[in-house]
Amino acid sequence: MRTQVGIVGAGPAGLLLSHLLHLHGIGSVVLEAHSRDYVEKRVRAGVLEQGTVNTLVGTGVGDRLLREGLVHHGIELRFGGRPHRIAFERLVPGRAITIYGQQEVVKDLIAARLAAGGQILFEVSDVVPDDIATACPVISFTHDGHRRRLDCDVIAGCDGSHGVCRAAIPDGALTVFAREYPFAWLGVLAEVPPSADELIYAHSDRGFALHSMRSPSLSRFYLQVDRDEDVAKWPDERFWAELRVRIETVPGWRLRDGPVLEKIVTPMRSFVAEPMRYGSLYLAGDAAHIVPPTGAKGLNLAAFDVGVLTEALAAWYADGSTGLLDEYSATCLRRVWRVQHFSWWMTTLLHTFGDDDGYGRRLQRSQLEYVASSDAAAASLAENYVGLARV
Ligand code: APR
Ligand code: PHB
Repeated sequence: MRTQVGIVGAGPAGLLLSHLLHLHGIGSVVLEAHSRDYVEKRVRAGVLEQGTVNTLVGTGVGDRLLREGLVHHGIELRFGGRPHRIAFERLVPGRAITIYGQQEVVKDLIAARLAAGGQILFEVSDVVPDDIATACPVISFTHDGHRRRLDCDVIAGCDGSHGVCRAAIPDGALTVFAREYPFAWLGVLAEVPPSADELIYAHSDRGFALHSMRSPSLSRFYLQVDRDEDVAKWPDERFWAELRVRIETVPGWRLRDGPVLEKIVTPMRSFVAEPMRYGSLYLAGDAAHIVPPTGAKGLNLAAFDVGVLTEALAAWYADGSTGLLDEYSATCLRRVWRVQHFSWWMTTLLHTFGDDDGYGRRLQRSQLEYVASSDAAAASLAENYVGLARV
């Protein structure tokens, strides 16, 4: 097979890249290890920045997002027994977030690609990116029991944090930066209407808690738990009881519970691999960087990367100019580190650290009260949360 851009991974990064390239008349083939059903059902995050919404709507894959997405103009920080709203409409006018599950974005992109005659090969295995240091990279893989070869001009490694593309880059060519947090998130999807109109980030001495949602009938909750927590130790009753203790801290406010549809423990880590390009291989999304979910940035950063890569490839195919391609890594890394800082800051602000001698807790409290009482501090949080227009 031959194509212009060989894309490994049908997550938000790979699918959005294939879609954006198509709009520039650039061909691509997407290779995905899992089945279509699996990637369309995989529950992950669900907060879209203004910029991500603008890209999806502006490129014709936002109809369902506009119909079913929940637009929020603020979030609540809950601590000290009181709610503290961060009002986007006042602090960052014209910019909001939209609650729309990642798997819904994936569904919309797959439908749009296939409707436009796009090629997505699901259930491929043994993917091997090769000759990535040359101008004629190749991806070999197995599909339908046949070993196949995809010749391309460039490879886009959109295969997530455990993919094969970053691993194909020779040792020593990458510098890796990482942070492991001494805790994890226990995430629950429940069939119950949300108990609040906006997201609640709750700071408590027993650990962090988050009230989020997917729709008027589906809620999403997260609890800070130990790093290697066993989900089997969290029967539903225990989950709801602990969530109540951490979040029902405002007089008169009650949490509604309901049938638990999914329960999963997600470790918390920060990771960046630099540079995001090696020869004809370009990394995008989780293949190059991971953020803890506290800032709801993972999907949005992936969308940003592929927007930059599309512009660079379009210029290259249009007039052979390589300037934007040569700048790809630096351009993305400026935003990656801004988002890394914001996600680390939100995580250290809102979670409890076992080794705290109390000094850390006092600092957290002071920062929380500062953000809740200073428009300058609140605006900084708000503009990072809705997504900085420029970095
Ligand atoms: N061969 C083919 N496909 C692969 C391989 C492989 N060897 N390894 C991984 N994949 C596929 C995975 O099955 C997955 O569908 O690559 C895809 C990577 O998708 P994501 O992990 O969703 O990563 P990305 O598209 O970068 O999206 C990043 O979305 O999932 C959220 O919060 C998450 O921040 C993350 C963001
Ligand atoms: C989610 O809805 O899954 C969600 C929301 C906000 C976060 C992380 C996850 O910070």
